[in-house]
Amino acid sequence: MARTPLLMGNWKMYKTVGESRSFAESLAKQSAALGASVEYAVCAPFTTLHVLRVMLPSQVKIGAQNVYPEKEGAFTGEIAPPMLVEFGTQYVLAGHSERRTLFGETDDLIGRKVRAIVDHGMRAVLCVGENLTEKESGQTNAVVAGQVIAGLASLSASQVAESVVAYEPVWAIGSGKTATPEDAQSVASEIRKLISEKYDASAAEKVRILYGGSVKPNNIASFLSQPDIDGALVGGASLDATSFADMAKAVG
Ligand code: G3P
Repeated sequence: MARTPLLMGNWKMYKTVGESRSFAESLAKQSAALGASVEYAVCAPFTTLHVLRVMLPSQVKIGAQNVYPEKEGAFTGEIAPPMLVEFGTQYVLAGHSERRTLFGETDDLIGRKVRAIVDHGMRAVLCVGENLTEKESGQTNAVVAGQVIAGLASLSASQVAESVVAYEPVWAIGSGKTATPEDAQSVASEIRKLISEKYDASAAEKVRILYGGSVKPNNIASFLSQPDIDGALVGGASLDATSFADMAKAVG
């Protein structure tokens, strides 16, 4: 069964409402680049989700970058899953390396977030990846496997099948360095094998695995041409509408 490719932007802490409106207007003018065989999404700051949902071309789905794993409660400063659902949010990132390193998110908390995202009918995008020290000491597959197992722990096989895993080597994020497409493929293939062992062959066949880390219009196709890489999670290069459209053209 063919998996639908997914081109997903992660805007991180960039763009005001006004800037988001400009992005949406510009992308709308280039919407011919958004082919029907690829799925598109932008994971944006909470404050911009509404304007994006109203203004982005209808092919582009809305994603959030974070969520708190409770339905409501005394959790000052946090955003609950039903609040995201109300905005039409379809995807939520969990476990991005910036959340793990800068905000101390543990595998346990990330697993609870994944559970909450899925429980509320949204799709989880579990981000995993090794840092440079782990890469240089040959621990990539072990680190990634640990993060995948913990992140998906509370899901059933059919829920895993509907989820997304983004392999983002920490050393490649925002650095201009990428994994080689072959190395990224090798890790993606290990993730799929692990999901087959822990869940079942059908979940492994259906789960989408993205590559992230300095993806740009000129290198995205080399990652998506790998058999186990089903899309890209793009930071910097997703902030500009023309660059987003150019990546869409490269994978469409
Ligand atoms: O989640 C996307 C990401 O961390 C990669 O960022 O700027 O290297 O594409 P960037």
